[in-house]
Amino acid sequence: MEHTFKLTPKQTTWANEVMNKIMDKLSWVSEKSKDKIPYRTDETGTHDTWEGFDENRPDQGICWWTNGFWPGLMWLMYQACGDEKYAGIARIAQEKLHYAFTCYYGLHHDVGFMYLLGDVADYRLTGSEEGKKYGLLAAQMLAGRFHPNGHFIRAWNDIPGEPDKDTRGWAIIDCMMNIQLLFWAYDETKDYRFRQIAMMHADTAMKYFVREDGSVKHIVEFHPETGEYMTSHGGQGYTKGSSWSRGQAWAIYGYALAYRHTGKKEYLDTAKKVAHYFIANIKEDGTVLLDFRQPETPAWEDGCGACVAASGLLEIAREVPEPERALYSSAAVKILKNIDEKHCCYDTSGDSFVLNCSAAYECKEHHVTMVYADYYYMEAIMKLQGYELNMW
Ligand code: GLY
Repeated sequence: MEHTFKLTPKQTTWANEVMNKIMDKLSWVSEKSKDKIPYRTDETGTHDTWEGFDENRPDQGICWWTNGFWPGLMWLMYQACGDEKYAGIARIAQEKLHYAFTCYYGLHHDVGFMYLLGDVADYRLTGSEEGKKYGLLAAQMLAGRFHPNGHFIRAWNDIPGEPDKDTRGWAIIDCMMNIQLLFWAYDETKDYRFRQIAMMHADTAMKYFVREDGSVKHIVEFHPETGEYMTSHGGQGYTKGSSWSRGQAWAIYGYALAYRHTGKKEYLDTAKKVAHYFIANIKEDGTVLLDFRQPETPAWEDGCGACVAASGLLEIAREVPEPERALYSSAAVKILKNIDEKHCCYDTSGDSFVLNCSAAYECKEHHVTMVYADYYYMEAIMKLQGYELNMW
């Protein structure tokens, strides 16, 4: 099937202009932050997550789940302009991330985000055997988190010093992105366990996370031994029973990719179902709220979830024919235009692009920057330009 989107000439010009601005700024930021692994930026500059290792918070520092997005941005730049310098900067971060493999408590299901966009991208784009080796190691670790009775992948390990928080039976919707690492590992090795575990997790999530109306829960808790469904948690959204927009976006994108890797039609149908719910909840001007069921005020937004959703909607669009395709691609354009026009910084007054991101409803700070918002923003714009990206 032809994958390119039918943009109007005006939209094409707009996408090209946005991409030029992104590339100009990233050529500057990449030099400035080349020895860092950025997560957030503020008036004091870019925060580097490579700051040693804190025994009390092993999941942070080098194990922090967003650490793959910086090399991911560098590999997008590499694809856009072919400059080897971006491969070099990506590899500085990748090298540091190998240390995380020594941290049992620190590593979690987010090894998908951490290694797909770095080592695996390196392998896919340059044939790096080193990248392949670390990618497969990460896949092995992710597969090792599978719960054989409950058919789900456990999200996090318990944090030493927080004995009251028993997360042995916890799974989260974000994992739909991480299982793409298992599909890649299957493609490379033809070891069916990788694919089977990924599909069993996706099937479980379809049953217990996706609600009848197309909204999605963030955290589901299963019995740690029997694997039976117990309850759900609001997680980073407003509350239990609510609808955290980034969680909906992870489901849209994750199921669209699961369909691409397996051809199982139920996955595409699920991606579409969540997408229809999401599209119905976007504001007239393209704004995406943090949680679609949060109180009217404060009207917290999440530009990050917006960019994830836009890229995920384009993933669905590439799988369906016209005129259906236009439903998804035009919603993506609407979201991205809103970010571009109202919430983006292209100058050198800050190191990031997307400004209206929110990590979670309960966080003290809202409308901040996050490296993964920038990643998904650039990725989505490149898809609109016709790049056939293969990052997931
Ligand atoms: N839980 C990962 C995220 O913030 O989307």
